[in-house]
Amino acid sequence: MYKIAIDGPAGAGKSTIAKKLASALNIEYIDTGAMYRAITLKAIRLGIDMEDENSYGFLKDTNLDICNGRFILDGEDVSEKIRSVEITENVSTPSKIKCVREFLVDYQRKISDKKSVVMDGRDIGTVVLPKAELKIFLTASVECRARRRMLERKLAGIEKSLEETIEEIEIRDYKDSTRKESPLKKSEDAVVIDSSNMSIDEVVSTIIYLVSERGLV
Ligand code: CDP
Repeated sequence: MYKIAIDGPAGAGKSTIAKKLASALNIEYIDTGAMYRAITLKAIRLGIDMEDENSYGFLKDTNLDICNGRFILDGEDVSEKIRSVEITENVSTPSKIKCVREFLVDYQRKISDKKSVVMDGRDIGTVVLPKAELKIFLTASVECRARRRMLERKLAGIEKSLEETIEEIEIRDYKDSTRKESPLKKSEDAVVIDSSNMSIDEVVSTIIYLVSERGLV
C-alpha cells in the first residue's frame, strides 16, 4: 500500500495528471478540490454567510460520495455543477474555514486509510498525508495555467478572456497561499515538476519513473 500526494496552484493540471496516473498504476484517485467545491455549492444554495465559521452547522448533515468517478453530494450527482465559474470564484472562502477543513481532512484520511491512492489538492503532502511515499508539487507559469483552464472551459461552452482568466487564477492562488489554515505550500520533501513545457503524458511518465525509483511498484 502506498500514497501519492500531488499539490500545486490552480490549473497546474493536477486532476488530469492524477487521474491518468491512478489509472496507469491501477490505484484510486481522490480529488479533494471537488470536495471543497461541493461544500461551496451547498453553502451557496443555503445562502449562508460563507465568511462566518458559525454558518457551517450544515456540515453534520452533509454526505459526500465518489461513485464511478462521479461526485455525489447528499445523493445528487454534482460533478458538472461544481466546475461552474460561480463555484470557482467562491471556493477559496469555505476553503479557509477551519471547521470545513477539519471535516474534509477527516473524510479524506478515512477514505484513503486502507488502500493505495493518488490524492490531489493544496495541503495533501503537508497536512492530509504527511507520510505519503511520494509527494509532487506540480506547477506551471500562470499564463500556461490560464490557457489550459480556458481550453477546458471552452469544451464546456464557457468563454472568458485570457486576461480575466489570469486575474482569476492569480486571485485564487493568492487567497489559497496566504490563508491561515493549511495554506498552499510546497512540502519540504516534495519533488517539484514544472509542467509549462511538458505534455500530460510526459508528466505522467516522469511521476511513474519516480514511483518505480522508490520501489513502490
Ligand atoms: O482544479 P483547480 O486547481 O482549479 O482547483 P481544485 O483542485 O478543484 O480546488 C479548488 C479550491 O479548493 C482551491 O482553490 C482551494 O481553495 C481549495 N482546496 C483546498 O483548500 N485544499 C485542497 N486540498 C483542495 C482544494
